[in-house]
Amino acid sequence: MQIDDDGVIYKPSIASPGSPALYAISTTVALYLVYRWLLPKPIPGIPFNKDAKSSLLGDIPSMVKHSMKTQELHDWIVAQNVKLQSPIIQIFARPFSKPWVVVADYQESRDVMLRRTKEFDRSYFWSEVSGSVMPESHIFKRISDDLFKRQRRWLQGLMSPGFQNNVAAAHIYNVCLDFMQLWEEKSRLAQGHPFAAAHDVYYVALDAIWTIVFGPESPDVQTTTRAQVELLSAIKDLPLPQSKDAEVDMPRAPCPETLQSIIDITESYELTVKSPWPSITHWILRQTSSTYKKAFKIKENFIEKEIAKAIQRFQSRSEGNSDIPTANIKSAIDDMIDKETTLAEKEHRQPEIMSRSFFDEILTLLVAAHDTTGTVITWALKILADNPEVQDKLRAELRAMYSEAYTEKRYPTVQEINSISSHYRDAAIEEIIRCSRTESALARTAMVDVELLGHRIPKGTEVFFMGNGPGYFSPAFEIKDSLRSQSYLSGQDKDKFSSWDPKHLEVFDPERWLVEENGQKVFNGTAGPLITFGLGPRGCYGRKMAYSELKIFITLLIWNFELHRCREELSGYKAVDKLVHAPQQCYVKIAKAL
Ligand code: HEM
Repeated sequence: MQIDDDGVIYKPSIASPGSPALYAISTTVALYLVYRWLLPKPIPGIPFNKDAKSSLLGDIPSMVKHSMKTQELHDWIVAQNVKLQSPIIQIFARPFSKPWVVVADYQESRDVMLRRTKEFDRSYFWSEVSGSVMPESHIFKRISDDLFKRQRRWLQGLMSPGFQNNVAAAHIYNVCLDFMQLWEEKSRLAQGHPFAAAHDVYYVALDAIWTIVFGPESPDVQTTTRAQVELLSAIKDLPLPQSKDAEVDMPRAPCPETLQSIIDITESYELTVKSPWPSITHWILRQTSSTYKKAFKIKENFIEKEIAKAIQRFQSRSEGNSDIPTANIKSAIDDMIDKETTLAEKEHRQPEIMSRSFFDEILTLLVAAHDTTGTVITWALKILADNPEVQDKLRAELRAMYSEAYTEKRYPTVQEINSISSHYRDAAIEEIIRCSRTESALARTAMVDVELLGHRIPKGTEVFFMGNGPGYFSPAFEIKDSLRSQSYLSGQDKDKFSSWDPKHLEVFDPERWLVEENGQKVFNGTAGPLITFGLGPRGCYGRKMAYSELKIFITLLIWNFELHRCREELSGYKAVDKLVHAPQQCYVKIAKAL
């Protein structure tokens, strides 16, 4: 009780203005409201994990726990579709942001990527993860952006049959021959013991795109595989473990710092791809990592030097040193300069060859090409070693196709590989790509409010299309036509797929890509669901080059070597999710194929 100035006794109110109690209550209420406001806000009607909704961090703790334990993440994402028994779900993967929508259905993914391209475009997710490294790359621009169109034109010539057959394939073939020579040396030194293969594979994939981009003739253009061959061919023998199953360590030549810079830059994404705050994580890395800073500087200087040399080559071609200027084009950079100069002339502007965007397109090619193709090849080594009957069949088929080369005891030439096709080889490669799950989460941003499988999704939502679960490796969810889009229904009769046995989807089986045509089994790349390269105008731009490389590499490898199973501890299909879905380890045990 208290007495006021007039001597009246009164009971003070607990919440009189300015009292500590009122202050405490209002603060608690405000904090509670802020807390409620920060909690994940589900999109109405789309299933989600109930626990995640009542936590500020949503699904993040569960995702982080899983990826710390297994190094994978994409399997966790699609497992939520299975757990919630829905082809469309939402997860709360970013704090205080919109939920991600996750779709696990091939037909819907295909419809969005091929037909609904105005409603869905390149996702913000990829800009957050890797945008800071090559901010002006067309990869992060929207289809409607004029700069997207201009920069795409720079790359236009690279996937043309002329460039693919006359330039790219020849460079790929030469570095693959270096690789075969390297493994000849390794086979001699390992004498039937297993050895680690991942470095060799990623290096050859990088060598391939490196020579394609910069050309093989520049004195600064070194390849990592040649350096390895030179090192190993000078070694007479190595100490070998007693057991034939035990692995042998091979010495490794240092990687030239220019190529290493691309590897270091690519590896920096491993941190960001799994971080709930990718842009901040990469920013911290850029400020603190001396390896990253050094790598960035080296690649900038190298690209600048190579562009300057390519400009000189362009000038000498234009000054009439050649009857057909384009006939002298030996590299992507030459072709890109050609394209930009013509384009600039047409548009009455200065060419933008020494621009940030030109540098970033070159880096895009180097990063997009080597990590993905290298990853498919590492999976190929494991899968083929575990499926000797496929290897035998493939080898027999190749020897029959290239019978002249076989009789003459030589490798098939690049012209032979390109001109004589093998349905079984194409099917084996397609099945390796499928089973590798190299890219299994394709992302798009909703550019406007959209309808997806009967749900309203607000503009700006990130939508992930998963290629590693139901519909691909287990039976698809049943979806009523009434939930499908108009574009799906009108394109439905064009989408004809073989009905693969749903129980057999997990199995590696190249035959699934061979379909009966006039009494013959022919390869059909649309025989079943596959989104490893994405689809539509935002699908992989380098797909043709990737197939060409896989075709040349697999042909020469199987022609020359048998891959044997490694002991269990060196095998297995555990993966790490980064820019790609790569095996955690890759060992091989090889013998010469007689
Ligand atoms: C096995 C090898 C490869 C795989 C699995 C792969 C996969 C992919 C995927 C999944 C995308 C995104 C597609 C989408 O969102 O729909 C993509 C985009 C892209 N890829 Fe590839 N890729 C491979 C090889 C290559 C090569 C060799 C190059 C270049 C020489 C390349 C250049 C690109 C480019 C430029 C884009 C961006 C396209 C755009 O934004 O519009 N890729 N790739």
